[in-house]
Amino acid sequence: MNTSLEQTLLGAIRTIPDYPRPGVMFRDITTLLGNARAFRRTIDELVHPYAGAKIDQVAGIEARGFILGGAIAHQMSAGFVPIRKKGKLPHETVRIAYSLEYGLDEMEMHKDAVRAGEKVILVDDLIATGGTAEAAVKLLRQIGADIVAACFIVDLPDLGGRKKLEALGVDVRTLIA
Ligand code: PRP
Ligand code: ADE
Repeated sequence: MNTSLEQTLLGAIRTIPDYPRPGVMFRDITTLLGNARAFRRTIDELVHPYAGAKIDQVAGIEARGFILGGAIAHQMSAGFVPIRKKGKLPHETVRIAYSLEYGLDEMEMHKDAVRAGEKVILVDDLIATGGTAEAAVKLLRQIGADIVAACFIVDLPDLGGRKKLEALGVDVRTLIA
């Protein structure tokens, strides 16, 4: 890892203790998004390993994965696929329940959002337990996506999410831990 990038990102992310539940150290990336230099470096760093990889779609997980995924898709000249919390998508969906560091939820994706065999990069801001990303991987695979990698700004390694995704055969890329 490039130390100056790591310092820039660590310095740009704010930590809020006991949010949204007591005992959770919440890593708030809104401060990084509001820092033009840090935001650009983040997107550049997440995109560059896939130059020439002909990615078809970038799938972003609601909500913070939408912000990063939109910017990444634009830079890769790829499409963007929203993976949403339940009840928000208007067309036919695939749905899955999951648990994360501080709760339970369900997510959905349009059934026709990805064509079988398309190359997809999955994006979110952070991986903690990996419950959210694991569910997204299952949905994408259910409709035939070829997941090239799952990318996050932050890894919380003590919570084991990265290992959970790697056990599913997903290549995981994170910028800071
Ligand atoms: C956060 C984060 C990831 C997820 C990671 O989203 O953006 O999606 O938690 O946790 P996990 O690895 O333990 O599953 P959150 O559910 O808070 O939703 P939000 O982006 O809509 O606030
Ligand atoms: N999602 C799950 N755990 C989180 C944390 N500690 N900070 C920000 N988002 C999270």
